[in-house]
Amino acid sequence: MEYAAEIRCYRATDRQAVREISCNTADIGEPVDRFFPDREAAADVIVGYYTDREPGSLWVAECDGRVVGYLTGCLDSKRCRNATRKTAVKAVAAAMGRGALWRLRTWRLLAAMIATVLLGGGSPEPDLDRFPAHFHINLRREARGIGFGRRLVERFRSQADAARVAGIHVVTRGDNAAGRRFFEAMGFRLLHERPLILPAGRWFRRTSTAVYGWRREQ
Ligand SMILES: CC(C)(COP(=O)(O)OP(=O)(O)OC[C@H]1O[C@@H](n2cnc3c(N)ncnc32)[C@H](O)[C@@H]1OP(=O)(O)O)[C@@H](O)C(=O)NCCC(=O)NCCS
Repeated sequence: MEYAAEIRCYRATDRQAVREISCNTADIGEPVDRFFPDREAAADVIVGYYTDREPGSLWVAECDGRVVGYLTGCLDSKRCRNATRKTAVKAVAAAMGRGALWRLRTWRLLAAMIATVLLGGGSPEPDLDRFPAHFHINLRREARGIGFGRRLVERFRSQADAARVAGIHVVTRGDNAAGRRFFEAMGFRLLHERPLILPAGRWFRRTSTAVYGWRREQ
């Protein structure tokens, strides 16, 4: 891998690469297929809002003409909340129409989501007045550990700074040890952690959803 990468704003021609990376990395760097059988719907849920509705806050790392990673940012999480929910509902409905309803993986995921809610988990949100912006970041395997993640976060932080956004939050899984160390190295601090149940083989396992925050004045 050539280390020189350009960090640049997303272009419409990057859409397929970003969608493919999202599906290949959704499970803390591993493919989404273990959890959900429909890649089109998974990509819509993970990156659809950002590619189609807020492309100005989407940054990509390009190496030798190939997109090797992305940061999907959002400067105002309150504004995007309804849009992301609608995108998710439409995507899941479309997946059901394509046959996901008849797949065991779909039902296992649904059961895990219900168990998460019963345990008081779900999608925890920080105080959005203090941490209004958020992002997701994913790199192809061969592009990790050589500084692209840092450069993507720094680029989004400069954008948020220029827009005078008070703070940024990011959500990861509790069992994503590398991701957690990365966010800590980038100056984010743990805000809270909630239970998360995930399908695991024929059973389920418990982990957590960890929310990290960074404030402009810190
Ligand atoms: C997490 C991820 C975005 C980090 O990007 P990266 O390019 O690999 O990280 P960088 O090389 O820019 O490292 C930046 C800092 O984070 C720390 N870091 C990164 N990966 C680390 C790891 N595996 N273990 C410990 N520290 C790590 C380093 O200390 C580094 O600090 P330094 O710059 O002072 O040396 C990337 O590895 C990735 O896409 N992983 C899979 C998907 C994922 O987990 N996404 C995020 C959570 S949803």
